[in-house]
Amino acid sequence: LPFSIVSEESIRCLVDGFYDKVRQDSELGPIFEEALGQDWGPHLTKMYDFWSSLMLTSGRYKGNPLAVHQRLDTLQIGHFERWLGLFEQTCHELFGPEVAEAFLIRAHRIAGNFKLALFYRPDR
Ligand code: HEM
Repeated sequence: LPFSIVSEESIRCLVDGFYDKVRQDSELGPIFEEALGQDWGPHLTKMYDFWSSLMLTSGRYKGNPLAVHQRLDTLQIGHFERWLGLFEQTCHELFGPEVAEAFLIRAHRIAGNFKLALFYRPDR
């Protein structure tokens, strides 16, 4: 496995590898293309900051991810399973099980929060 620890370098590699898969995915790819166009550079930089803030408490990410996803009108609840599947695959390509699990716990927790906020509609 390429990495034994969480570092800025291994986070960049995870983010790059993950979004390569996302970009090629028939359902997720078009959502990102629509939002980002052809220049993924700024998004990738933001995602390095995001994961660095979560995993290394670097504090570099400032933003409101929920609000950003609220604006994606083609986002469907089923897309989360696909997103998490690709993220899990990438984590296991790069890290041993303990480090992979540390990323995955956070990804699942945030995906769960997004799903509730975006799709849960109690009867009123
Ligand atoms: C940004 C799609 C799930 C974290 C974005 C953007 C897209 C997107 C298209 C770029 C929006 C823009 O810049 O206009 C999706 C889809 C998901 C998903 C289709 C699955 C259904 C997640 C999850 C996480 C996450 C589970 C966290 C673990 C982020 C963050 C940003 C982002 C941090 C940057 C927000 C900002 O601009 O500050 N996402 N996303 N996304 N996504 Fe997701």
